Amino acid sequence: MKKIVILTLFPNVFKEYFNTSIIKNAIDKKIVEINVVNFREFSKDKHKKVDDTPYGGGAGMVLTLQPIVDAINCYKRAESKVILLTPSGRQYHQKIAKDFSLSNHLIIICGHYEGFDERINNYIDYSISIGDYVLSGGELAAMVLTDSIVRLYDGSISKESLLTESFENNLLDYPVYTKPYEYDKHFVPSVLLSGNHKKIDKFRKEQQLLKTKTNRFDLYLKYKKNIGD
Ligand code: ADE
Repeated sequence: MKKIVILTLFPNVFKEYFNTSIIKNAIDKKIVEINVVNFREFSKDKHKKVDDTPYGGGAGMVLTLQPIVDAINCYKRAESKVILLTPSGRQYHQKIAKDFSLSNHLIIICGHYEGFDERINNYIDYSISIGDYVLSGGELAAMVLTDSIVRLYDGSISKESLLTESFENNLLDYPVYTKPYEYDKHFVPSVLLSGNHKKIDKFRKEQQLLKTKTNRFDLYLKYKKNIGD
């Protein structure tokens, strides 16, 4: 069974999300065990303080090393990958999700409001950002990582669904349609009703390329490079 440990100051925010849909299903099927831990409990301060003022002055508080490092050491195994969530980390994407999904033991660390003492880098393996914006804390980012990783575990969802998803081969997913055939004078492309699977595959591939080129030219260029032209 895969194991994910999340170190946070706000464990309650995870409950509802992890109790829903694919993650709940993966937990129920014993594909993954997720342990959400309040690292404040590791603080040796008599008031359970976890932050302090920055050396050199400046705004805000900084998370101290002791509670986080003790929490990491408590859960760390030889095989663990320790991931720090911060807006100054490396940008997260599907290939990193795949790489993390191969690991049996992940420790994910969330900050809140304040930054981490830079020396935290001596105790982690990866520093990850989910995008170029600043969140109030790493909790949403931890949910993003956990969701994107758990759905890749064997048995979480069908292998076929994974193969046709966005970002496979650097392409976005093809557009899909369902009933009714006409809605408010908007029609489903007729080729999808033709029953001709060769034509349908061709149409989907064209649409996939067009969508990627329009919405994500950066990905489109990667796709072109990989197919060798
Ligand atoms: N914590 C705050 N902002 C973040 C971001 N963009 N990615 C990961 N962790 C964060």
